[in-house]
Parts: sequence; structure tokens; C-alpha cells
Amino acid sequence: MKQKVIAYGRVREKAQEQLREKYDLHVFSGEEDLNDKAFTEALAEADGIIGLGMQVDADFLAHAPKLKGISNVSVGYDNLDLEELTKRGIAATNTPGVLNDTTADAIFGLLLATARRIPELDRYVKVGNWKSGLSDSKFGIDVHHRKLGIIGMGRIGEAIAKRGYGGFDMEILYHNRSRKPEVEEKYEAAYRELDDLLQEADYVCLMTPLTPDTRHLMGREQFKRMKEDAIFVNGSRGETVDEDALVEALQQGEILAAGLDVFQEEPVPADHPLLQLENTVTTPHIGSATDATEDKMSLLASQNLDAVLQGRRPPNLLNEAAMRDNK
Ligand code: GLV
Repeated sequence: MKQKVIAYGRVREKAQEQLREKYDLHVFSGEEDLNDKAFTEALAEADGIIGLGMQVDADFLAHAPKLKGISNVSVGYDNLDLEELTKRGIAATNTPGVLNDTTADAIFGLLLATARRIPELDRYVKVGNWKSGLSDSKFGIDVHHRKLGIIGMGRIGEAIAKRGYGGFDMEILYHNRSRKPEVEEKYEAAYRELDDLLQEADYVCLMTPLTPDTRHLMGREQFKRMKEDAIFVNGSRGETVDEDALVEALQQGEILAAGLDVFQEEPVPADHPLLQLENTVTTPHIGSATDATEDKMSLLASQNLDAVLQGRRPPNLLNEAAMRDNK
């Protein structure tokens, strides 16, 4: 009998086709939760799950007694309780590597759009307000030759550093759990303690994974340390930022503006205070959202899950112990 696989949320058609050849595939939109009968019935029988957006904790796993593997179609895996998964011998995987450049493009685009006020000025032109010369009240700030501070120098952080250094002659500062000598060499990047980076950078770009240590990494105190004419960009997870503190910092002019691709609650509610401010530019978590990259991520996730279900070590295993203890 074919093993059963749940595809949840953003799993591209190409990957679904690949999985259907070997597995009994059950496709869900990604809106379902544990109150959904069809979903919990499928979970009860599932050998594997591939997808994006499910919160996998002890409660979820209690509904999935046969599960052998869970394959995230994302590089971030803060939705997975790795300890609980490992305890149950369930392998977990993610999709690193294939989204670096696409995500760096999006986050750098957000930085540029915020600095040069592109969305605001797009609206200004389209509603017919461009009637005479542009008033200097509409001017933005320079990006080139300024200081870019990157918090979280992983592979995506490095791709952002590359763009800033090579394309915009920016001076690169970074903060990370560990020093990255090769990044320091390639991009003349200077390591800084967090507080020092916040004080010095003209652009603070947050790219760290969400962990218990990085939850609300940016709070009142951190925004106060930033320069009044600095821009904050978040390409990590909403929960790395205390959003109330960010609203306050933006309202009180403690920082100039913010470019945000991620929010504590997603989709972010339309009446959220961050969306009412003039000095924010927002995008709906689009880091990796291009057809080509989403295909690559889904296919890599499918390979990961296939390996687990065939008893092989998947290329992007997050919890070694789960498979070791299984053998
Ligand atoms: C996107 O946010 C990802 O983690 O891949």
C-alpha cells in the first residue's frame, strides 16, 4: 500500500506531481487547523507532511501517530517543535540555499523602496498629484555609500551584504552568533556587538531566524539606540520585533522609517497600527515568492520527504537524532 502524504499550503504543482507518482497525496489549502475534520482524518493516517505554515507542536503530533517526516517548504523552521519531533523519531527538514538570491533581492528592494519612498510616490503620481515640480518634502535618503548593518549573517544575510557592498558601495557591519571571517574578507564587513551596530548603521536589516533567543530582539531600547535618520528593515520573522515598540519608534521619530516583509500575525490585519503609518513600506512575506524559486523550494522539500519515507537521510535534515534513534 502507498504511504500517505499531506501537502499543506504552498506546495507547487511540480512537486505534487512528483509525490503522486509514489505516494497517496492529500492536498490541503493551508487554511485548515485541528478543528477541520477532513484534515485531522488525513493526519491520523499520514506518513509524511510537506508544506508551509503548519504549527507543529505536541498537540498537533498527538493527531499524527504514524508520522515519519515533516518537510517544510521554507528555510525558517520556527513553526516546528524540534524537540517533540525528535522525541517521536520524526525527521524534520527545510529548504536552505535555493532561495538566497531571490530573498536578498526582495529585502534589498524593500530597503530601496523605503529609502526612496517609492510606493508613496507611486500613489502620488497615479492619483494625479504630480502637477508641478517635485517638492523637497517628497525627497528620500541615499542608500549608496552608507552603512548597512545586517543582524543575522546567514546565507541570505550574506547575499544582502554582497548587494550592498558590490552594487551600492555600502559599508557593511554585521552582528551574528558567530564571526564570519570569509564574509569579513569578501565584503570588508566589520563585526559589531548588537548595540554598537544599532548606533552606527544607517540601515538596520534584521535577517536572524526566530528562536527563543531572538524573540523581540528589537524592542524599545534597541529602537532608541538607532539613529533618528536610520531605516529598519525586517526580513526575518515578525516575532523578532516588538511591534508596539516599533510603532512607537516610528511615531515618535526615533527612527525614520521601516520596511517590513514579515509581521507577528500573518496575514497582518488591515487595521494594524503599522499599516496606518506614512513611514512604513510593507510587503506580504514575499522573500522567496518568485515562480522559479518557489518551484525549487517545493522540489527540494519533496526530495527531502521522499528520502525520509524511503528510509534514507534527507539532504536537509534538521534533527539528526530523530533518524539515528530510528535505525
Ligand atoms: C521564508 O520566510 C522562509 O523561511 O523560507
